[in-house]
Amino acid sequence: MNTYELITTRRSTRRFKDTAVPEEDLNEIIEAGRFAPSGGNNQSTHFFVITDKAVLDKLADMAQASFAAMELKEGMYPSLASSIHQSKNGNYRFHYNAPVLVVLANQKDYGNNIADCACALENMMIMANALDLGTCWINQLKWLNEDPGVRELFASFGAEENERIYGALAIGYADTEDGLPVRTPLPRKGNPVTVI
Ligand SMILES: Cc1cc2nc3c(=O)[nH]c(=O)nc-3n(C[C@H](O)[C@H](O)[C@H](O)COP(=O)(O)O)c2cc1C
Repeated sequence: MNTYELITTRRSTRRFKDTAVPEEDLNEIIEAGRFAPSGGNNQSTHFFVITDKAVLDKLADMAQASFAAMELKEGMYPSLASSIHQSKNGNYRFHYNAPVLVVLANQKDYGNNIADCACALENMMIMANALDLGTCWINQLKWLNEDPGVRELFASFGAEENERIYGALAIGYADTEDGLPVRTPLPRKGNPVTVI
């Protein structure tokens, strides 16, 4: 696929096979993220690459317990409300049991922290599509940034005191018959373009 096709066929994958992602492919995906632009060439995005199933399960259990303890409020961001609702029902796996989760952190007092992480995430999604791997942006850990358990766990992985999580990417082979991600583009209903 050419670059335009790789971009337009990228879709979110939410069902993954257990199959491990080849190390070589994962390295290319991470490098694609590391080569994303950053504000003022800050290069302060911190990539936590989690492939250990025990760690992923622990993180998913922690997230479920934290969301389950939150109160559902009217007018809440729907995705957050859904995380809380599913957690209260005890069947929530925020990373869709993907075999890889890349968590992106950045300095909390740096103005381009989210933008830099978003650039890295998009680069990684396109690279993964080129390698026939499915991905999904995972936002839940951003909402658990001040959760003591999550802070402690990431501190144990080497997160600095001033780093916070701004996004994550689930990566793996799609649980489809041919193992390829669904690539049918969603119609564009928004994103207006004004040509002057
Ligand atoms: C900033 C951002 C946050 C997102 N957070 C989540 C998330 O937490 N969980 C999830 O399943 N999908 C998440 N997504 C994926 C979107 O739901 C998805 O991109 C959108 O519905 C369009 O579908 P597509 O990716 O298949 O084109 C997120 C996407 C973006 C850009």
